[in-house]
Amino acid sequence: MQQPGDYCALRLAGGPIAVLRGQDGQLRALSNVCRHRGTPLLDNGFGNISNRIVCPYHAWTYNDQGVLIGLPHSGDIEVNRQSHCLPKFSLDTWHGLVFVCLHESDVSLEQKLAGLDNYLTKFDLQRFTNGYHSEPQHWSSNWKLAAENGMESYHLFKVHPESLEPYTPTKSAFYVAGCASWRVTAGRFQGALSNLTGLISDSNALNHYLLISIPPGFIGVLTYQSLDWITVLPEPSNRCLVHQGGITDASGLNYRDSTSQAALAFLEEEGASWWS
Ligand code: FES
Repeated sequence: MQQPGDYCALRLAGGPIAVLRGQDGQLRALSNVCRHRGTPLLDNGFGNISNRIVCPYHAWTYNDQGVLIGLPHSGDIEVNRQSHCLPKFSLDTWHGLVFVCLHESDVSLEQKLAGLDNYLTKFDLQRFTNGYHSEPQHWSSNWKLAAENGMESYHLFKVHPESLEPYTPTKSAFYVAGCASWRVTAGRFQGALSNLTGLISDSNALNHYLLISIPPGFIGVLTYQSLDWITVLPEPSNRCLVHQGGITDASGLNYRDSTSQAALAFLEEEGASWWS
C-alpha cells in the first residue's frame, strides 16, 4: 500500500473498514459503508481507488479522505455533506504494519508498545522492505483461545512433536520480557536450519526467533529474515477470522530454504489444530 489510492478493505470486529493511502500520502482508516443506505463501498481485499470512492448503488462519491463530494440526481434536496462523511478510526503504524483502533483511546500505539523495540534491535527490521499477505482463513476456535495458543512455545513438544518440535525445540524456548500491552518469548531454530548459520557471522540473531504477541490479536514470529504474523479477529459462533502476512528482506522473498519458511510453518502449524 505504497501508492496514493492503494487500499485494503476488510471486516474488523464485524465492521467493514477500508485502510487507504490518500493522494497526500497519508494512511487513513475509514468506514467502508455508504452513508446513504449502507451499501458496502469497496470489495474486501487490496486495490486502488485512484482518488475517489464511488458507491455501487446510487453512486454517492467520496474523496480519499472520506468526504462526501458527489450526489448524482439529488436535485433540490439539501444534504448536509459534512455529516455524511465516512467515519474515521484511529490508525498507527509499527515497522510497516498498520494497526487500527475502533474506539477512541488516550494511549497511542507508541505508548502501548514502549520498550518492545529494545528487544528487536538485533534483527534490524529496517531491512524488511517487502511485504506479502495470504487470503484470510476461518478457524473453528474461540478467538481468545487461538490468540493465547500462539503466545508461547511451551506446548510444542506435547502438541507438535513431529512437526515443530524438531525445528524449534521446547527446551530452547524462553521468556524474554513483557507487560500488559506486549510480550516477547524466544526460541532457537535447529536441525536443517542451523546450516544457514554459517552464512552470517552474527549467528546469534540468525539462530533465534522471537515470538511477539500484542493483545488482543497480533502474534508475530521474528527471525533474521522476516517478521511473519497472524491477526486473530472474533467471529460469531465461536469462530475466528485469521489474516496472515509478513515483511521480509529481499533474500526472504521466495520463502524457500530460509528461516522465514520456518517462521511461517510455525504459525501455520499452530493454526492447523484450529483449522476449519
Ligand atoms: S447506498 Fe450508496 S449511494 Fe445509495
